[in-house]
Amino acid sequence: MIFSDVVIIGAGAAGLMAAATAGYRGRSVTVVDMGKKPGRKILISGGGRCNFTNENASPENYLCQNPHFAKSALSRYSAQDFIELVDRHGLNYHHKTLGQLFCDNSAQDIVDILMTECEWAGVDIAMRSEVISVNKNDTGYEVVTAGESYQCESLIIASGGLTMPKLGASPIGYKVAEQFGLKVLPTMAALVPFTLHDHDKQKFDGLSGISIATEVTSEDGTTFKENILFTHRGLSGPAILQISSFWRSGQAVTINLLPETSIDALISEWRETSGQKSLKNMLATVLPKRFIEALIKQKDISDKAINQISNDEITYLGQYLHQWQIKPNGTEGYRTAEVTLGGVDTDEISSKTFEAKKAKGLYFIGEAIDVTGWLGGYNFQFAWSSGVACGQAV
Ligand code: FDA
Repeated sequence: MIFSDVVIIGAGAAGLMAAATAGYRGRSVTVVDMGKKPGRKILISGGGRCNFTNENASPENYLCQNPHFAKSALSRYSAQDFIELVDRHGLNYHHKTLGQLFCDNSAQDIVDILMTECEWAGVDIAMRSEVISVNKNDTGYEVVTAGESYQCESLIIASGGLTMPKLGASPIGYKVAEQFGLKVLPTMAALVPFTLHDHDKQKFDGLSGISIATEVTSEDGTTFKENILFTHRGLSGPAILQISSFWRSGQAVTINLLPETSIDALISEWRETSGQKSLKNMLATVLPKRFIEALIKQKDISDKAINQISNDEITYLGQYLHQWQIKPNGTEGYRTAEVTLGGVDTDEISSKTFEAKKAKGLYFIGEAIDVTGWLGGYNFQFAWSSGVACGQAV
């Protein structure tokens, strides 16, 4: 049996951050993870460049049943604090859009920084160690893996959510929570592409790869102004991933295909300058040509000369292009989702220390709990913030 003050299940973003923080405080820390390499999700994140934080991260960018829960951790360890850490390590990075920061070189740089911090803090990391069970005893917790058993005073569950099972996602965090009487809220794949019903799939067959700058709104009124992307399975792109966290089965999403202008204004302008030209050709100046051709082919829009379009037709066009309704068939699920919505109920956890209110010495951080960030570096920021808050408390 191996004894440590602190055992952490999960060598992901949250677990490594908590490990280094606790290690620097003089606690003996062991991290156990079933993967071959630490930080596997970090490595594949942001297209291999890891969108490691968002400069604008604030509680409003997170979905959680308690909208105030993330406030304390985010304010005590902010995006600026993580930026200072990567600056100290000399990371080269760049700003993309909307406050998103990415590595210039590779996501491996972030894993290297975390591993260096863990090494400096004297953390032990046991990879290829799948946790099979957790038991409470007189001196704390026993964590049992296939080949070893670990005894600790404080146990941190940083085992993430259910997304990307092939990268080692497991429900262990939820199981441990339930074992100690904590409520686990229903989970759902989020930040995930939509699949379409057959009729829509046929309609947009051949459009795969086309991207359109849009404004997408869910039935609860949440709106994101970013690109959508047609794929061979359905719809993806940042706007779709964002709205997927707010979409529920059976609902429609409304897409404004021309968020920067109005079709009324465009047609008035085209009547002046290009009255003889076809609607198809003029719409192709503001939207991808293949997309317009697909709408015309399906008779969603009829082509005619601009100066022959009636006012009723303009009203219809406006409704169609500014309020394009699409009812997804579903999502691609945990296989491709970036995050898991739901998880360990935050009402069960201290927002200051992340300790379970009903189980002294047991902590939950990162994606395992019911805090889900928007797309854009917010999820890693919550992993860093919750990891630090917990690492300071164990
Ligand atoms: P994480 O999932 O990172 O770590 C959990 C660890 O626990 C894993 O290493 C796993 O092996 C281990 N584990 C699980 N069960 C175990 C068991 N039974 N025994 C032992 N170990 C076990 N976010 C962001 O902010 N910016 C971005 O660019 C991206 N990009 C991105 C791309 C893709 C493709 C995905 C799938 C996700 C993202 N994300 C993201 C989301 C981000 O990766 C995610 O929110 C964090 O990795 C969560 O960190 P955690 O440490 O909580 O869990």
